[in-house]
Amino acid sequence: MNVRDSDLTARRMRAAGFADAPDEDVADVVIVNSCSVREKAEDKALGKLGLLCAARRSGRRPGLVVGLTGCMANRLAENVFGLVPGLSFSVGPRSGDRIPELVDRCLAGESGLWCPDPEGATAHRAAARSENAAARCAVGDPVSRPPCSYVTILYGCNQRCSYCIVPHVRGSEESRNPRDILAEVREEVRRGARDVCLLGQSVMRYGRAGGFSWPEDIPSPMGFTEPLPRLLEFLAREEPGLTRIRFTSGHPLGVTPELVRAMREIPQVCPHLHLPMQSGSDRILRAMRRGYDRGRYMAAVRALREGVPDIAITTDVIVGYPGETDEDFELTRSAMEEAGFDNAFVFKYSPRPGTASAQLPDDVADEEKRRRDAVLLADQDARGQRINERWVGRVVEVLVEGPSLRNAERWSGRTGQNKIVVFEPPAGVAAGTSVRVKVELARPQTLYGTVVEPQELQPAE
Ligand code: 5AD
Ligand code: SF4
Repeated sequence: MNVRDSDLTARRMRAAGFADAPDEDVADVVIVNSCSVREKAEDKALGKLGLLCAARRSGRRPGLVVGLTGCMANRLAENVFGLVPGLSFSVGPRSGDRIPELVDRCLAGESGLWCPDPEGATAHRAAARSENAAARCAVGDPVSRPPCSYVTILYGCNQRCSYCIVPHVRGSEESRNPRDILAEVREEVRRGARDVCLLGQSVMRYGRAGGFSWPEDIPSPMGFTEPLPRLLEFLAREEPGLTRIRFTSGHPLGVTPELVRAMREIPQVCPHLHLPMQSGSDRILRAMRRGYDRGRYMAAVRALREGVPDIAITTDVIVGYPGETDEDFELTRSAMEEAGFDNAFVFKYSPRPGTASAQLPDDVADEEKRRRDAVLLADQDARGQRINERWVGRVVEVLVEGPSLRNAERWSGRTGQNKIVVFEPPAGVAAGTSVRVKVELARPQTLYGTVVEPQELQPAE
């Protein structure tokens, strides 16, 4: 989601006439996009902003404009200007369209501008005009790779998981209209995207929060009644340039028979789902207020595996939640094995201000959190290796992204399962085309193989 927001910020700046700086050190404007989910992420953003503002105050880079956007801007509100003296502006994540205008004002000498998200704001106001368009703006990583892109379909989150700051900083759920989503998907395809991931904090809640009703004049020939399957069908039908559709993040209670059928029967929908589990202990899941227990989670995994051939399931897990015992932790370990995750992101619990669990003592020692984290990662490495070995000898369809990040002589792309595949590029290959690759070697996170004939290289437009 932050990659998407950073992409949008970069595009808005370019649309207002700003140019990319070759390097952050020579930029006239630096905008830090922040995340509040864990304290470490906030510390990093604050550290970065502090350095930039110090350079400005000391006179080394007197004209530098330093801005903050993302969740942290909402969480800290005006207080950020006390924490980061000299900060030029701070803007909430749903008001990103104001950034060019704020930059202009700061280039003209203003400072300390705070632009909160208005109640019920949507991210789509008319673009601001820029008079200072000659300034160069630092666009760093991470921005998405051309054939892959993201489109937000659901803002905010109405769930109240005990540990999570997202509903506090991103507001309540608001589903976007399918026609607006289609227009944005089309724009992404026009820019070269072939694989679009639909985003929502709890994406299966799409169309389920109050105030939304699916437009009656958009039919579902496949007979879907739920909003997310209908949206998947609608996008697949209306945008032929869209090769692949994904959505993230999932929730086990959203894994309905209809959604499973949509994943199986709509060819563009990828056999891949990110389904955060958080814990394998019923006691901890209850304390987290996740709304399911281990049995219910596993039922969702089974429904997906039975209904969607070759599906890859990935997850998020938190270690060291308040009161998590060794026994709870071992239950998480066994649940990860039972679910057979293709990949897992493990997070050390971090108390966040204003959340329910921040009232509880953060009683698992940091050293123990680190141990649990390392154990789960080692387990996942072994499991990833085992699962990926099943792909050796098979031919997979790879959407080409470009030179591999590690070794530019080899290229990489992804399968529908979101597995990274590294191969030697045949002549004429281009990002956004599809190649068939015979997998020869597996690693926990990557497959290696050779492009096989016959190739039908789809031209990249
Ligand atoms: N501490 C640690 N991890 C967290 N996450 C969310 N809030 C916290 C927190 N307070 C993790 C969850 C979520 C992922 C995006 O971040 O696992 O799925
Ligand atoms: Fe946070 Fe829970 Fe909403 Fe996910 S579903 S964003 S963990 S409150």
